Amino acid sequence: MKTRLSVNVNKIATLRNARGGNIPNLYQFVKDIQNFGIHGVTVHPRPDERHITLKDTYEISKIVKTNYNIEGYPDERFIKIISEIKPEQATLVPDTHDVITSDQGWDTVKSKSLLRDVIKNLKSFGTKVSVFINPELEFVEGAFDCGADRIELYTGDYSSEYLTDKSNSIKKYVNASLKGKKLGMDVNAGHDLNLENLKYFKSQIPFLFEVSIGHALISDSIYYGIENTIKKYLSNLNYE
Ligand code: PXP
Repeated sequence: MKTRLSVNVNKIATLRNARGGNIPNLYQFVKDIQNFGIHGVTVHPRPDERHITLKDTYEISKIVKTNYNIEGYPDERFIKIISEIKPEQATLVPDTHDVITSDQGWDTVKSKSLLRDVIKNLKSFGTKVSVFINPELEFVEGAFDCGADRIELYTGDYSSEYLTDKSNSIKKYVNASLKGKKLGMDVNAGHDLNLENLKYFKSQIPFLFEVSIGHALISDSIYYGIENTIKKYLSNLNYE
């Protein structure tokens, strides 16, 4: 099974915003990485616009010819964005406004009624809805009960444990993925995936639907260049 590589371009916007001008050119970057073979573009338009702005979110929708994935906490602003852009995928994250990055998934049991309503609404726009969760069976079942099409497993814990105990680090992810697949949901993964840990993750969960990668991939491109970096990530996902 082919696993989609969706590149999170938040960091390019962070770099651009540091000087207030248009270097690097985020939109050109989005066009180029799609020509270099990626399968999707991810943005997380946070309300404080510290990286991707609302304008970016709409402008990028005009140039994405692969799969557009918009992440965010499902408040009114986010729902309006999805209703207007109708991206291929919306990924729901439980972040409060002040977190540096999404560092945990939903408790899909406690947040069931919120998620159920939001997912129904977002699906009515023709968008596939993915729910970001930690790899716990109850959260996989909870996501399914809420009507999610997909789950995205938070891989921050995998990435840290991988360094000391590779075979143990993957166990929960394999079990959660198998459960998700059995229930009929696609299984995505993201956070802290990199050139060191991605290949093993893919080898243990070959039916993975999509990985969403930003920080490490953009950082690697400083050394390898973006085209070569994308080739390396694709190779780790078993593309020729
Ligand atoms: N998935 C989600 C839900 C995220 O919030 C992020 C970070 O924005 C990622 C994946 C990508 O994580 P990283 O930047 O560590 O590759």
